[in-house]
Amino acid sequence: MDKIRIVGGTPLRGVINIGGAKNSALALMSACLLTDDILLLSNLSYLVDIVTMTSLLKHHGVSISLSNNNTSLTSHTLELNANKITNTTAPYDLVRKMRASILVLGPLLARCNQVKVSLPGGCAIGTRPVNLHLKALETMGAKIDVQGGYIIASVPSGRLIGSEIIFPHITVGGTENILMAASLADGKTIITNAAREPEVCDLANCLVAMGAKIVGIGTSTLHIEGVDRLYGAQYSIIPDRIETGTYAIAAAITRGNIELIGARRDTIQSVEKVLIESGVEISETPLGIRVNAYDRRIVGVDIMTEPYPGFPTDMQAQLMALMTTAEGASMITETLFENRFMHVPELLRMGAKINVHGSSAIIRGVQKLSGAPVMATDLRASGSLVLAGLIADGETIINRIYHLDRGYERVEEKLAACGANINRIKDSS
Ligand code: UD1
Repeated sequence: MDKIRIVGGTPLRGVINIGGAKNSALALMSACLLTDDILLLSNLSYLVDIVTMTSLLKHHGVSISLSNNNTSLTSHTLELNANKITNTTAPYDLVRKMRASILVLGPLLARCNQVKVSLPGGCAIGTRPVNLHLKALETMGAKIDVQGGYIIASVPSGRLIGSEIIFPHITVGGTENILMAASLADGKTIITNAAREPEVCDLANCLVAMGAKIVGIGTSTLHIEGVDRLYGAQYSIIPDRIETGTYAIAAAITRGNIELIGARRDTIQSVEKVLIESGVEISETPLGIRVNAYDRRIVGVDIMTEPYPGFPTDMQAQLMALMTTAEGASMITETLFENRFMHVPELLRMGAKINVHGSSAIIRGVQKLSGAPVMATDLRASGSLVLAGLIADGETIINRIYHLDRGYERVEEKLAACGANINRIKDSS
């Protein structure tokens, strides 16, 4: 497996292009299953998770082509044609690679009235059940059994029925699955306590472009009037707010100055607020945003992760990396996932001072981190180790960077272009 080598200490300067949002793309790709016309998605980042979703959709019979086939470029266009669905089973081997595979459940059930999807199971950051997805689909008339590790769902009446869905707590994937299923259901669905993440809005906007009738996009109550069919569309994916936040912290942690081209400020408000509070300067530019920490004091701040518009759990590990060298102490509380401090032991190996008490971590800023061999455990934890490596004295080797490639496109090239001493060590075995 490839490794990343970083020699830290250089303040980063330059520009970084922000790619299309991974989590939007995964939901938008599954939306192709709702129509027999062509869905054209532009501003797509070429990531391992996108390749996994491509394999899954191809397994269902979708024909897919990457029209900008040059994988060294950051923006790609994907053409998806699901006019023939040949297989409605999402097998374990593909689903276990990526939990977001569960997003084919709603659209396949709505289009084909039957589906068999492997239960995603646990992952490094926690158990992550899908009970809320299943309960909502049952409310809409689906019959669901779990057998042999598979969710086996069918629609005995021949069409899902528009219903009132009240999520007891906010679920991004659950909201997305029900949005897609309800778009082809018979009658009106109201989703209460819906997720408001920009990626959910992106999916809803694309569904509207495909002919769906959705009101309340961006709010916690979504009204969906089911239609008989959806059509093809061309849709441009929003810029990735987590990639934006990660590179903003790269500027902050190295006390550098980076312009993030294409970044959308309105999607990173909670992260921006925290970074400004910690001492970073953020301004809008004609092409994106500028993050300036040159010669600035970075101080500890306290945060708690929350559903959007709160501070994203997907930025928690990266903020912790910044806090390890901030002045004073900070407290980070993780409220969404029960096991999302896997980066802590690795940061400790680099000299950080962190104590974890249940769902909270107290970080006491140190003058310097020191480079060390570390292990990437999940996607965003990997991001935090790269950030820590950028400021650490000496050499950091990040092992198992498979996780990093799931969500960051050509991370080493983007950082190296801003002056970082970083390279990929290819696995020759
Ligand atoms: C999505 C994102 C992920 C992000 C997370 C929270 C994608 C592909 N992934 O994941 O990057 O970290 O949102 O912002 O978009 N839950 C249940 N039952 C359910 C569903 C969820 O108990 O049926 C719980 C989960 O265990 C978790 C919380 O609800 O504690 C939020 O999970 P959810 O919003 O569903 O996350 P994902 O959609 O899996």
